[in-house]
Amino acid sequence: MDRKIKVAVLGCGAMGGTIIGNILDSPYLDSIVGYDISQNSLKKVCDQYGIDTTTDLNRILSDSSIKLVYIASSNDSHVPLSIAAMKAGKAVMTEKPVGLTFAEMDSLVAAQRETGAFIQVGLELRYSTIYKTAKEMIDKGKIGSPVNFHYTYSCSPYGEGNWRVHKANSGSVIHEKLCHYIDVVRWWNGSRVNKYVVTSAQNVIPYFEIEDNVHVSYAFENGAVSQLFFTMTAAPTGNSDMIHMSDDLFDQDKDGHKLNYVITGTKGAIEIDVFQRQLRAYRHAGDPALKGEAAEITQIIKWDKEQDHEYFHNTCAQNRDIIKRVANGEPPSILIEDAAETMRLCVEFSDAQLNRPWQVIKR
Ligand SMILES: NC(=O)c1ccc[n+]([C@@H]2O[C@H](COP(=O)([O-])OP(=O)(O)OC[C@H]3O[C@@H](n4cnc5c(N)ncnc54)[C@H](O)[C@@H]3O)[C@@H](O)[C@H]2O)c1
Repeated sequence: MDRKIKVAVLGCGAMGGTIIGNILDSPYLDSIVGYDISQNSLKKVCDQYGIDTTTDLNRILSDSSIKLVYIASSNDSHVPLSIAAMKAGKAVMTEKPVGLTFAEMDSLVAAQRETGAFIQVGLELRYSTIYKTAKEMIDKGKIGSPVNFHYTYSCSPYGEGNWRVHKANSGSVIHEKLCHYIDVVRWWNGSRVNKYVVTSAQNVIPYFEIEDNVHVSYAFENGAVSQLFFTMTAAPTGNSDMIHMSDDLFDQDKDGHKLNYVITGTKGAIEIDVFQRQLRAYRHAGDPALKGEAAEITQIIKWDKEQDHEYFHNTCAQNRDIIKRVANGEPPSILIEDAAETMRLCVEFSDAQLNRPWQVIKR
């Protein structure tokens, strides 16, 4: 058995608690210390998991027996905490997003280069079955060359008291929410974005400081194009805070959430309807094997509600993989330069969204 390591979780709210639950029975875990600026958050994780807690960051940074920190505080603190931890000799897993500005992103990448530290950003879609399946299909050429990625996300809003509605804490909706989907499309396509245009209109939710009504159209160096549509929706069920949605966290379709992708290639296409729990792949007239006949569905994948976590939100596999990697001295599965490219796109898209008149920006 490999060695067990001591871990700290910085930010012990909802996601911090999830991380603790994910790694508590890892064979690579020695012990966990929770750090937060809120006594209330610490009390909850202490009561639930019986872990040691502190409001003193220095206690974590100066403890050389702590080898890995998971960062799950609000978005504005990810980079400062990551840099402090790397400089203190620790491996880092930080929740998305990282870097609300280019300067912040650059300072993070520079600190990683300077220290050589392990750092991985929480982009858990890349660990999730339905996203991995689509990646495999694309890489195996099942749809020919991908030429168009169209994706739509709408979700019910956070409550007025949530830190996410504030620009200073959240960045933007592109940073806070859409970075996951922007990242996965980049990953699927494997090409650099070289131009984009962002349009937006009046907010849907009046108390949101961040924009909640935005379209992004962009193109990749390999010639594919992509269109992202996002809007907040008023939940038809009346459960309008997505953090405290319904009595069942994964009944998102009932709360008005939609997350759909259409990936079109030169021979076929893949459609994913995340909250209806279905992937459909088909060949279309572009595939010579069809000899001009009608399109043919080649694969349908469905999953059960109980598999939601594994299929589209697999933080558990990610968080367990990261402690294993650090304990074994393995590199991150997603390099910081790769994550940084997604985060830079988020900064650019967010900035462009504020500009008028809208214009195509070349990179
Ligand atoms: N990957 C995902 O799918 C996913 C899902 C949920 C949340 N998240 C991310 O996790 C992070 C936390 O989200 P959450 O839902 O747990 O929020 P939350 O509000 O439930 O918890 C945040 C906690 O961070 C603490 N905090 C804030 N600033 C801090 C600082 N400077 N130092 C230490 N603690 C600090 C707060 O007191 C609070 O306890 C966010 O960045 C969010 O984007 C990611």
